[in-house]
Amino acid sequence: MATFARSNRVVFNVIIGVVAFLFFMSVYHVSYNYDDIIDKVNGKTSPEKPAPNTPPKVEPPKIGTPKVEDTKVAAPKVEPPPKVEAPKVDTKRPSFREIGKKYGTDKVTAHHYQHMYEKYLEPLRDQPLKMLEIGLGCDMSYGPGASYHTWLEFFPNVDLYYIEYDAACAEKWAANTTGATIFTGDQADVPFLKKFLNETGGGFDVIIDDGGHTMVQQKTSIDILFDSVKPGGIYFVEDLETSYAPKYGGGQGVATTFVERVKASLDGMMLSKPTPYFMAYVYSVDCMKEVCAFSKKMPGEKYD
Ligand SMILES: C[S@@+](CC[C@H](N)C(=O)[O-])C[C@H]1O[C@@H](n2cnc3c(N)ncnc32)[C@H](O)[C@@H]1O
Repeated sequence: MATFARSNRVVFNVIIGVVAFLFFMSVYHVSYNYDDIIDKVNGKTSPEKPAPNTPPKVEPPKIGTPKVEDTKVAAPKVEPPPKVEAPKVDTKRPSFREIGKKYGTDKVTAHHYQHMYEKYLEPLRDQPLKMLEIGLGCDMSYGPGASYHTWLEFFPNVDLYYIEYDAACAEKWAANTTGATIFTGDQADVPFLKKFLNETGGGFDVIIDDGGHTMVQQKTSIDILFDSVKPGGIYFVEDLETSYAPKYGGGQGVATTFVERVKASLDGMMLSKPTPYFMAYVYSVDCMKEVCAFSKKMPGEKYD
């Protein structure tokens, strides 16, 4: 009876043990699945619990993983833009005075006309210009051509004309040079001046009277030639000290000198009574020592 009871107890204990084991296993399983569910809801996967029938993860072999330095991409070379050369403007080119000195014209030695010419002609230097000078310099100690060379260098685009009285000198000069068109004649000869204008077509940007310097020559030339100055152009008369020299028809108190005429023309300008007639087309008379400049109005420019 005692043996039976003992064996029953053993069986009972075994049963209890099995039941306890099964209970433990079931609790463990539930908690295991519960964690899984929580992980899934949170979007996590449990690494240590592969899905059933999932083949084991095989890590791909790490072959030739590039080093960080190798992955650097070199920046593309950007070529600098090609240099565009600015047009060369010679800001250090010689002045009128320097050029005149180089060729020896008395415009910048015995006289100081550089002040007048640098004021009015420097701004025109690079323009194409039609220019007339009366007087080649045949009677000068330094000979003809000093101003010819000066103008050709000062105005690189000049169409240069000369009127010269000394025919032999003018022809010889013309035969040896190509920089100017030279007309032989007397600047006080009205028919000659008109013929000159006919042949050249007039239209001068600049006229310079550096001829014989007598009163008659200066007055006749400006009376006939001023019409051929382009609007905006300038007429210069040099060596006006001759208005005070009897040799040239001038002198103290002589009413018919060129300078007396200039003074009278200023009166006429102020009083709106232009005299002589060409003063109706002059907007400015600018006189410096021994030289005056008459600037021509532009078309339609009226002050009266
Ligand atoms: C002072 S020089 C000219 C100097 C020159 N322009 C220079 O700067 O070197 C005067 C020139 O005018 C000329 N001449 C004199 N009387 C003239 C006249 N009635 N008509 C034209 N030319 C004249 C002379 O022969 C001489 O060549």
